[in-house]
Amino acid sequence: MAGSMFRTLLESGDPVTIHLDGAPITARRGETVAAVILRQIETWTRQSPISGERRAPYCMMGVCFECLAEVDGQGSTQTCLTIVHEGMQVRRQRQRPGFSEPVSSEQDSPNES
Ligand code: FES
Repeated sequence: MAGSMFRTLLESGDPVTIHLDGAPITARRGETVAAVILRQIETWTRQSPISGERRAPYCMMGVCFECLAEVDGQGSTQTCLTIVHEGMQVRRQRQRPGFSEPVSSEQDSPNES
């Protein structure tokens, strides 16, 4: 299987170990969680609570909110603005229970009758 299309440009910085969904990953001190996730085979950070579609970091500057994940127990953390630290626990945000069905067309167009 091919790896991620992304690679690090950060050659300096001490290695730190973070955990993504329980799996240890080596990162570099000073880089963001989103940058580390984009180097993984699966680059998504969250599922849409409505459609369940997987979303991944996009803007990398705190604007789009596509990079939300749970970091050290804090949900909906913008991983593109969060610097890694040794032992950090990161979990991809899964679709919330009870929101597994896509919004129907009737709910999309409440003014149509
Ligand atoms: S990637 Fe856009 S807000 Fe984090």
